[in-house]
Amino acid sequence: MDYDIKDTSLAPQGLLRIEWAEREMPVLRAIRERFAQERPLAGQRLGACLHVTTETANLVHTLQAGGAEVYLCASNPLSTQDDVAAALVTELGVPVFAICGEDNETYYRHINAVLDAQPTLTMDDGADLVTTLHQKRTELLGNLLGGTEETTTGVIRLRAMAQKGVLKYPIIAVNDANTKYLFDNRYGTGQSTLDGIIRATNLLLAGRTLVVAGYGWCGRGVALRARGLGAHVIVTEVNPLRALEAVMDGFRVLPMRKAAEEGDIFVTLTGDKNVLRSEHFEVMKDGAILANSGHFNVEIDLPALEEGAVNRRRLRPHVEEFTLRDGRRLYLLGEGRLINLAAAEGHPASVMDMSFANQALCAEYLAREAGQLAVTVHSVPQEIDEEIARLKLASLGVEIDTLTPEQEQYLASWQEGT
Ligand code: ADE
Repeated sequence: MDYDIKDTSLAPQGLLRIEWAEREMPVLRAIRERFAQERPLAGQRLGACLHVTTETANLVHTLQAGGAEVYLCASNPLSTQDDVAAALVTELGVPVFAICGEDNETYYRHINAVLDAQPTLTMDDGADLVTTLHQKRTELLGNLLGGTEETTTGVIRLRAMAQKGVLKYPIIAVNDANTKYLFDNRYGTGQSTLDGIIRATNLLLAGRTLVVAGYGWCGRGVALRARGLGAHVIVTEVNPLRALEAVMDGFRVLPMRKAAEEGDIFVTLTGDKNVLRSEHFEVMKDGAILANSGHFNVEIDLPALEEGAVNRRRLRPHVEEFTLRDGRRLYLLGEGRLINLAAAEGHPASVMDMSFANQALCAEYLAREAGQLAVTVHSVPQEIDEEIARLKLASLGVEIDTLTPEQEQYLASWQEGT
């Protein structure tokens, strides 16, 4: 079997950590049991480009139980957990192509190694696999039944492809399921981003001014949790509706040019580039900390930061100091890559349980509907979304009410008023 990972001897530790995550993934476990009976993915070759974590290992195990042959590469050069990659190779027999800290060339070589398996389904996080396929490996497009996309950034890229008429096979936007973004993006990113910042720096957040760039679901989560730790939170936005929500959620909203003067810690989660750039670096306080939790490392203008610096040194594993010409020092965390996976372990398993239940059930749906779906970006079918919410509630031991027949009839009628 072909694979490219750091060190197979790390497997025993990876296996124990995968087992630990599994305890928090009851919905995925239930799907795995059914998949093992029904084998809905038999005959599928599934090319996955995902963060190689303990949670992803549990997803891969589930897809294998469903009968798929899974090939896995990393969706970010810094997010791979090398012990998990080792366990996947040695214990589950999965061809994994991922090494933490790989350079850009290796990153794309690994994507191409997964594509060499001629997948019939793709599972992407950020759309690098799909865009490579559409630009460099077009001879493989004819094999594809469908794909899924995990994250906001990937869905934005895929919608742009669909709009321009270049997308060649149907994709399901897993990110947009309620059981994904309301939990993973908000509570997962909220907790894991602060976990990454704290593990990298060991800073006390209480009393600090933390600037959150972007008030999408991820930004909301970070703002909410930072407030809970006692930080003074400032939000920056370009969307008036989101800015208004941030105001009414009780946050200060400022343009970045002004927030830059006040912040002790900056976190970008916008999905766009150069959100923090020279004009902001110029006015930041000495000691300001810069972190990104968006998918790509483009949100902080790194070339501008490098150009403006007279000295650079690494102080801790994920903390790099840039001394500017006037002597002020700015601290970049995790090379500007998504801090929750670079310096911590990504989202906790309990939310990935729902995100990856969506992935598994959407893979089953794509295999079942093969050839029937229009070539565009699709929503997750509502039955899948609701089923996952039901299973998660049941696993938490939470019961809810059901409508009485009289209530159902009332909701379906219009004549009865005051
Ligand atoms: N994205 C964010 N957190 C993750 C995790 N723990 N595993 C896989 N993908 C993730």
